[in-house]
Amino acid sequence: MSKQSLDIKPAKGKLGVMLVGLGAVSTTFIAGVELIRKGLAKPLGSQAWMGTARLGKRTENRTVKISELVPLARPEDLVFAAWDIFPDNAYEAAAKAGVLVKEDLDKVKDELLAIRPIKGAFDPEYVKRLSGTHVKTGTRRQLAEALRADIREFAKTVDRVVVVWAASTEIYTTPGAPHASMAAFEKALDANERSIAPSQLYAYAALSEGVPFANGAPNLCVDTDAMVELAKRNGVPICGKDFKTGQTLMKTIVAPGLKARLLGVAGWFSTNILGNRDGEVLDDPESFKSKEVSKAGVLDTILQPSVYPDLYSNLYHKIRINYYPPRGDAKEGWDNIDIFGWLGYPMQIKIDFLCRDSILAAPIVLDLALFSDLAKRAGYKGIQEWLSFFFKSPQAARGLYPEHDLFIQHIKFKNTLRHMAGEELITHLGLDYYHD
Ligand SMILES: NC(=O)c1ccc[n+]([C@@H]2O[C@H](COP(=O)([O-])OP(=O)(O)OC[C@H]3O[C@@H](n4cnc5c(N)ncnc54)[C@H](O)[C@@H]3O)[C@@H](O)[C@H]2O)c1
Repeated sequence: MSKQSLDIKPAKGKLGVMLVGLGAVSTTFIAGVELIRKGLAKPLGSQAWMGTARLGKRTENRTVKISELVPLARPEDLVFAAWDIFPDNAYEAAAKAGVLVKEDLDKVKDELLAIRPIKGAFDPEYVKRLSGTHVKTGTRRQLAEALRADIREFAKTVDRVVVVWAASTEIYTTPGAPHASMAAFEKALDANERSIAPSQLYAYAALSEGVPFANGAPNLCVDTDAMVELAKRNGVPICGKDFKTGQTLMKTIVAPGLKARLLGVAGWFSTNILGNRDGEVLDDPESFKSKEVSKAGVLDTILQPSVYPDLYSNLYHKIRINYYPPRGDAKEGWDNIDIFGWLGYPMQIKIDFLCRDSILAAPIVLDLALFSDLAKRAGYKGIQEWLSFFFKSPQAARGLYPEHDLFIQHIKFKNTLRHMAGEELITHLGLDYYHD
């Protein structure tokens, strides 16, 4: 028996995707969508355009594409815009990022050449390894107003807009007085307080314009009381933070398995080498700290040392990121996991993941854009915990610990879609199959 579906507005017309940062991730995402539109690639890794959901009982054999279950923007509906602090168009930026080969980029060269970044709002205090040349000038308030004007201008050309932050990782900061409420944030904007990070200006601009905002980097941005308040007040979905790719993706796949089998973990040493611009930015200890904090919470919440003190209370977790230019975007992540089992006997697991970060991140950008837009049309506002699946450090309501287990996140994600569509939630109880 199905329930009433939510009253979701149709995905009619053009969806404008505004990207903050036109670097490796953004250009890989845009080029991929353009290749998909031309029928030259398939949307591998995208829940929205490739994923499916089982509906009803196993005996019904009903599995539909997620894009048939809920109304989502289609490939032909997407329109792109971006901000960056360097003037390179998307073709030049993609070539410099070195993720996709020239042969692929050239198939969508005209489309990429046409995307020229809008000047960014930047403060070198927040990203110490970059000195942008293509930047807006003015006070914090003037910058915020200029970003709002950019969004309004772009919104005139499309039907709906979403913003995704895929710009460099800012330095580690914690919420201060300006982040406690929107009144305090507005006051700090007027006082031109530097404790408001550029990423927070973009978030403020988007939410003020009623536009959903997803944060793909680990720095403090939309995860403050002030931003949650603004999002709720303006009826806008927000989510973050830090795209779940690479080593942390592996961690959230492996750790739930170890816990499920009640295997202890004595230590987990993770190290990476990467040589792209992101790696260069993360070579700065203050930007690295944002990443480290975002990556570190994962094991604690999955393994629950307070619930399983015998297995996880002495876990030594260490994370290293090393900037190594020869590798470019082709990162290598090593994990050494010291585990123990029956009678405490030790064992080891070694993972050597030769991944491509931006290849893993691009479909996440796509999904976050499409599902944030869906959430807005469904009337969802504030934190979208059901999108935790896509993040290393998922935002959750105050007082609620974030769910890091990839498989729980996946069930929650699909059940939310079923709920939106008025379908029964799947609990996997299944006792009714065995009733006479
Ligand atoms: N690649 C991944 O798999 C992955 C995973 C998780 C998170 N991330 C995060 O996503 C972000 C983008 O990664 P990337 O590999 O594309 O990095 P990148 O360095 O290639 O691109 C970032 C771009 O942002 C621009 N930028 C910096 N500050 C800006 C500002 N204030 N306004 C506008 N533009 C600005 C830079 O000029 C650069 O072009 C990083 O924060 C990274 O940590 C990436």
